Amino acid sequence: MAERFDMVDVIRIKRDGGRLDDGRIDWVIDAYTRGVVGDEQMAALNMAIFLRGMDRAEIARWTRAMIDSGETMSFESLSRPTADKHSTGGVGDKITLPLAPLVAAYGVAVPQLSGRGLGHTGGTLDKLEAIPGWRAEVSNTRLMEILEDPGCVICAAGTGLAPADKKIYALRDITSTVDCIPLIASSIMSKKIAEGTGSLVLDVKVGSGAFMKDEDQARELARTMVDLGRDAGVDTVALLTDMSVPLGRKIGNALEVAESVEVLAGGGPADVVELTCALAREMLAAAGVEDPDVEAALADGRAMDRWREMIRAQGGDPDAPLPVARHTHEVRAERDGTVTRLDALALGVGSWRLGAGRARKGDPVQAGAGIEIHAGLGERVTAGQRLLTLHTDEPDRVDRALESVTPGIEVGDGPAPERRVILDRIA
Ligand code: URA
Repeated sequence: MAERFDMVDVIRIKRDGGRLDDGRIDWVIDAYTRGVVGDEQMAALNMAIFLRGMDRAEIARWTRAMIDSGETMSFESLSRPTADKHSTGGVGDKITLPLAPLVAAYGVAVPQLSGRGLGHTGGTLDKLEAIPGWRAEVSNTRLMEILEDPGCVICAAGTGLAPADKKIYALRDITSTVDCIPLIASSIMSKKIAEGTGSLVLDVKVGSGAFMKDEDQARELARTMVDLGRDAGVDTVALLTDMSVPLGRKIGNALEVAESVEVLAGGGPADVVELTCALAREMLAAAGVEDPDVEAALADGRAMDRWREMIRAQGGDPDAPLPVARHTHEVRAERDGTVTRLDALALGVGSWRLGAGRARKGDPVQAGAGIEIHAGLGERVTAGQRLLTLHTDEPDRVDRALESVTPGIEVGDGPAPERRVILDRIA
């Protein structure tokens, strides 16, 4: 069968700064999914989009075409409202783990269809797989049962949702075209809209450890995604949040599960608690729950009860000891002073090099690998005091990790830069 368009023409239009009409966009996504357009031509178009951009109407059509490339889900048969959250990804970002059970404690169903990590940001499924017995794969029937009781599920997204995005994302990853607002917005929103959630809260990260390094870019990404969600009938809001510093005190799979359990037990680092509670309030407001005292639900064990049921529902043992790395290495302060720098990217790359993340799809990750932060930004330390502990199963990874970590932490005389966790709200 003859194809409706010629890919060389489509690439040329975008290369020369033109706009792609609806017919061409629908065709490109469909033809690439069918394998009629090859990787080399799609890579060229991605790069042209990266350099020339897309207008709002093009982004909306691109997103719709990716949704239409696969199946869609619906949670309308559930007896309760649904609320979903998505983070653009960051270092130490374990928020989904305490957040899903916290929101479920209020009778709102939370379907968190998640992915595995690639590069320096960890994947939610990799973190939960550190829990003995826990399985990421859940059938659609079982997913609906778990969403009724205990009410929250964190599992692998089915391969049928937005298959065009899966192919395009894999290609972007190896052609340096990931950090592009139209491509990120359409990638994230096509999956979220295809999932069929009633409402969506986006956590758009800003800073060295995020895709978006500056606030204006992050605001534009947030605005684009909120508009895409609204146009598709999904009640969507975004929080712009800091990712110049890692979230919490623990980076790495089992380490982040342990920190999440601390939060669910009513403790944990202040920044993780603040962001978890802010996102929970947004999700609950979207689902019609007014003035929830989310801090109380963490303190009195309601969220912890849901967590334990959620882990058990997927074969995990919430009481089993978490894996521990075989080797540790400590980084100590060389002088008295204040921690004036604690860079998210440097520590994220360090943790990845220790074995917590993967370089290629399908690589194994070490459950126990990662970094513990003993002195946070702005804290006073004395010479010889422990700043960080590096964890790995393979000691020969430590030197490479230190090349990234060492310039990422500084002890100086001056005050540390002010840090606000939540920078803005976009609705
Ligand atoms: N996450 C996604 O799912 N897609 C992107 O493009 C970036 C982050």
